[in-house]
Amino acid sequence: MTSTISRRPLLAGNWKMHGSTAEARAWARAAAGAAADNRNEVALFPPAPFLQLVLAEVDGAVSVGGQSCHTNTKGAFTGATSAAMLADLGCTYVLCGHSERRHIFGESDEFVAGAAAQAATHGLTPVLCVGEKIEEREAEDTQSVLSRQLTAALDVLPPAPHPLVIAYEPVWAIGTGKAATAEDAQAAHAFLRELVARRDPERAAGLRILYGGSVKPDNVAGYLACPDIDGALVGGASLDPAAFAEIATA
Ligand code: PGA
Repeated sequence: MTSTISRRPLLAGNWKMHGSTAEARAWARAAAGAAADNRNEVALFPPAPFLQLVLAEVDGAVSVGGQSCHTNTKGAFTGATSAAMLADLGCTYVLCGHSERRHIFGESDEFVAGAAAQAATHGLTPVLCVGEKIEEREAEDTQSVLSRQLTAALDVLPPAPHPLVIAYEPVWAIGTGKAATAEDAQAAHAFLRELVARRDPERAAGLRILYGGSVKPDNVAGYLACPDIDGALVGGASLDPAAFAEIATA
């Protein structure tokens, strides 16, 4: 699908459960440097204990988000973070349904949708992560998995102009060094955009869809050259400030 709406590329680093206060400060400073005079938007997803430090360090030069949020605003949910808390800190984004949350922590499509709705309620932009496992791809179930994961969220999210970002992250490509080819990623992104377009063509045209899964300095340009790929969600390479700066300025 072609569009006349320009979509500013978003290059985001997901630190997962890595870092110390000293590293978080150094990585944030490097990302802020990479964000200066950059046509791309740069974002960081630090572990929750470092959010405040990173927000202070980047001072608005980089967008900051949480790695997950709960489906409730508050309550007896030990260990969880609410979207309201992330918004209160000054976050812009929150990852919803990252594959590690789905497959290690057991978050269901319904939970992820509820978390994304919470994010929207509190003025955060949900970064809805979707992606198929290797056995699903081999069984040619990729489209049905993506459709199921996306539809669950679209059914409960407020309509445009409420902001939304989607991240396509095939599970088999995350942290494995086996990145999807740009062609395969583009096909999945076009499919996701088409699903959104069936409900709201205008939202689909402006929607940023990020690719994630073993993105490195030497493959990021290939993704960004694809018409439906609007940025990247970067795990491992975001822990190397030089590599992340190269990706962020691609
Ligand atoms: P990776 O992780 O870049 O290390 O593959 C991506 C992600 O999990 O967001």
